[in-house]
Amino acid sequence: MTRIRIAGTGSFLPERIVTNDELAQRLPKTSDEWIYGHTGIKSRRVAGPNESASSMGLIAAQRALENAGIAPEDLGMIIVSTATPDYAPTPLVSCILQDKLGATGAAAFDMSAACCGFIYNLEIAKNFYYKPDFRKPILLVATEVMTRKVDWNDYKTCILFGDGAGAVVIEPNEDAAAPSDLVDTIMRADGARGEFLLLEGGCRSYDSLNHPKAHVLQMAGTQVFTFAIKAIEEVVQDLTKRNDLTYDQIARIVPHQANFRIIESAAKRLGFEDLDKFYINVDSVANTASASIPIALDEMNRSGELKRGDKILIAGFGAGLTYGGNYLIW
Ligand code: UT7
Repeated sequence: MTRIRIAGTGSFLPERIVTNDELAQRLPKTSDEWIYGHTGIKSRRVAGPNESASSMGLIAAQRALENAGIAPEDLGMIIVSTATPDYAPTPLVSCILQDKLGATGAAAFDMSAACCGFIYNLEIAKNFYYKPDFRKPILLVATEVMTRKVDWNDYKTCILFGDGAGAVVIEPNEDAAAPSDLVDTIMRADGARGEFLLLEGGCRSYDSLNHPKAHVLQMAGTQVFTFAIKAIEEVVQDLTKRNDLTYDQIARIVPHQANFRIIESAAKRLGFEDLDKFYINVDSVANTASASIPIALDEMNRSGELKRGDKILIAGFGAGLTYGGNYLIW
């Protein structure tokens, strides 16, 4: 199997910052104290009226390509993860990006696994290199405008989410001396608990299109919370065990950024004494669904904290329910 490397990263966050205090002015049942104390979130970014999954994804993609030093016309494929596409669902966001980037030679498709979309897509992308004659770079984008899919009167749900996009460019690692690779991936699902994160408005039945909550996320918060802690614990445990990794060998763990308390509880159950290894930006970015992991990777890459050869674990969970993770050597 061809080894791969992440050649470049990019991200985009909308300019508009909405603080907990601002939310609480509109939703008197909540407060900064409650939100921060129960989630670790202080603020989130909210897309402007003309921003969309494709417009945010385009900027993240351009930044990733620039970071990689790769021209759009050299891309072989574009894979987009989004639960909030511009259209429902066609034209695909990946096809819009292919056009806007000028990536004329790239295949393009959207591949959704909710918040785990990026985790799943990294593995899917790597597998295209099974073809000996396919060596072109692949662009992975995860872009979400979750704030358009929440009920802004539902103070139990809307406080969690923010908007943003992340992107990475992968390419074959042809340098035998360079350790970079996507070494292992876990992709799991628990469809029996799908209703814990439910978004109507699909083609399930004629009535589902006109359902009173057709276009807003309905969430069983406590149930997802419990599931999420176990999911992160299981993924980190399995990835370390089957790759013979000790915690000391891992440079960073990048969890899905949904709630600080989920990360804290999972870390405790895994036996970490502190959260030093865990990358956390949920305080200012909130939950950007599948964009959360590539946004975090881009922040880490651009701050210079990632070194080639670093061992990184990614762990996520989300609607579906899906969960999973990756073991990357940077
Ligand atoms: O990508 C995956 C997306 N989803 C998630 O990750 C969600 C995971 N779940 C969570 O993060 C947490 O369950 C929440 C933050 C959503 C809720 O926290 P919780 O500690 O599980 O609260 P709860 O739903 O059990 O509610 C406890 C109390 C209730 O009041 P009473 O009935 O005890 O008087 C709620 O009404 O907290 C109240 N409450 C709030 N109060 C102020 C719930 N949400 C809020 C709020 N502000 N935003």
